[in-house]
Amino acid sequence: MCGIVGYVGRRDACPILVKGLHRLEYRGYDSAGIALVNATGTLHVFKCKGKVSDLEHFLEGKDLGGTIGIAHTRWATHGVPNDANAHPHYSESESIALIHNGIIENYRVLKDALVENGYTFRSSTDSEVLVNLIEYVRETNGCSLFEAVQQALRQVVGAYAIAVVEKGNTDRIIAARQSSPMVVGIGEGEYFLSSDAASIIEYTQDFVYVGDGEIAVIERDKPLKVVTLDNHDAKIDIRKLQLSISQLEKGGYPHFMLKEIYEQPSTLVDCIRGRINPDTCEVKLSGVIDHREKFVNARRIIFVACGTSWHASLIGEHLIESICRIPVEVEYASEFRYRNPIIREDDIVIAVSQSGETADTLAAVELARKAGAFVFGICNVVGSSIARATDSGAYIHVGPEIGVASTKAFTGQVTVMAMLALAVGRERETVSDAYYHEVSSALLYLPETLEEVLKVAPQVADLAKIFTYAHNFIYLGRGYNYPTALEGALKLKEISYIHAEGYPAAEMKHGPIALIDAEMPTVAIATPDHTYEKTASNIEEIRARGGKIIAVIARDDRQVRRSADYVIEVPVIAECLMPIVVSVPLQLLAYYIAVYKGRNVDQPRNLAKSVTVE
Ligand code: F6R
Repeated sequence: MCGIVGYVGRRDACPILVKGLHRLEYRGYDSAGIALVNATGTLHVFKCKGKVSDLEHFLEGKDLGGTIGIAHTRWATHGVPNDANAHPHYSESESIALIHNGIIENYRVLKDALVENGYTFRSSTDSEVLVNLIEYVRETNGCSLFEAVQQALRQVVGAYAIAVVEKGNTDRIIAARQSSPMVVGIGEGEYFLSSDAASIIEYTQDFVYVGDGEIAVIERDKPLKVVTLDNHDAKIDIRKLQLSISQLEKGGYPHFMLKEIYEQPSTLVDCIRGRINPDTCEVKLSGVIDHREKFVNARRIIFVACGTSWHASLIGEHLIESICRIPVEVEYASEFRYRNPIIREDDIVIAVSQSGETADTLAAVELARKAGAFVFGICNVVGSSIARATDSGAYIHVGPEIGVASTKAFTGQVTVMAMLALAVGRERETVSDAYYHEVSSALLYLPETLEEVLKVAPQVADLAKIFTYAHNFIYLGRGYNYPTALEGALKLKEISYIHAEGYPAAEMKHGPIALIDAEMPTVAIATPDHTYEKTASNIEEIRARGGKIIAVIARDDRQVRRSADYVIEVPVIAECLMPIVVSVPLQLLAYYIAVYKGRNVDQPRNLAKSVTVE
């Protein structure tokens, strides 16, 4: 939700900031803007509604000098997407410019107080309140910009990653963070600032993650200074991050989403690497080994997550209950955090998040830790807030996911959960040798299996042509593939804007079957498992009511093939890993339908990749 970027150094700031915005556009694309302080100290703000490419057109012919600046790409919270609500925001006297990612919860009270003191507002954002508050404090107390930011933020309730520059100061950016991500990149005689280290990886591999309640003073030719809101020096811990630029580019694919779907065989190689011994099939997860007793003695596991990560967690529930015999609950992080849940010291809370920044999941982690539970993270983004807030964890290592619809992160999450279940099941002696080896060797072969699955792409593309204009879809699955059905429906609705619902197949009879007619296609997952016969009957019931059926089946299927109108054939592996296999054609189906409908696949309307506001 909103991306922020900053630069101070010797190069022209504008091209660096614009490139950074392009890389952060997955975080929001309602409007974009830039503030530059030129060599004579003049502060310029340029901003407009639309995407970063619109900003680039807008910047043509403008005075873009300056080796210091800040920039922003917005996902609207308070105020519609328009030029006035775009960031950066000027203060009343136009002497300070501010960018903000987050939500200022008490902005109304602050705004009323500022209005009483003669301040006027150009936008309807909460962020403009903050820049005026900073100016008010600076003018009233006659203090520096740094002190003004520090004092102003003490009055603020909410989440923020902010950066400010001021007229007449060609050297210094003040940045601060509370609950929204922020990282400072350290180069040779230059500093970079961003919501996401990946966006500035081409300039440096050295990063400092600004902590909650900390303010960074980023000044040309001076060491980085980080202090807390109450003015104590914070520890500066420089971390190395290695990523290749090619991971951030489309690499010849028309969309990041398609690239990420096709990357899955190789991302799963990275996910599994070093964790399963190819000779013995033994699974080793250091996050489990280091905390063996916690897992062996756990009374309960609670997954907390949102969206696709929540769907993966439902599969995790099934895996852990059946392999480790530990009771599992799966919670929406947003509900969990607000309902005073019962959390005990022998509970393990597993937070699942691709971005590692989802505000609700992060809050659930904090709540669980306060209650004394052991918290384990399954994240993708290395060094992200959730990864740092947990006691232990396992990264999914699938590389940057830039398409807003999650694909390779889902298969990576399920893969890590399967490895986790095997590792813990082994320690607890709740899994038989035979089953352990069946699943771990299937995990080792997952990359090859997914190469095979991807061969269905042309056929799925043809199917997508047939169903491009359907208005509603139902997705059905059972057991391990019930969450896969939910995930397939989510993929379709978020990128094609077609209404789609996922159900456990047997639930159809309890209501949704009333929707079935020739206009309502059903995607039915009917790969071999212990409920196959029952799913086959559910499919018959839909067929009897004139519904069109697209069935995902095994290559050697004989039964469901006869009732379905269209089939997608997939290879069959261990039942508990079938969601990884089945999700791939469902990702492709959503992708091609969205493409045929002319949707913006990588940046669907109203969405953002990293939901850092509640
Ligand atoms: C759907 C999607 C979202 C995210 C959700 C959680 O394709 O991407 O539903 O899964 O916003 O995000 P993370 O996993 O970053 O916590």
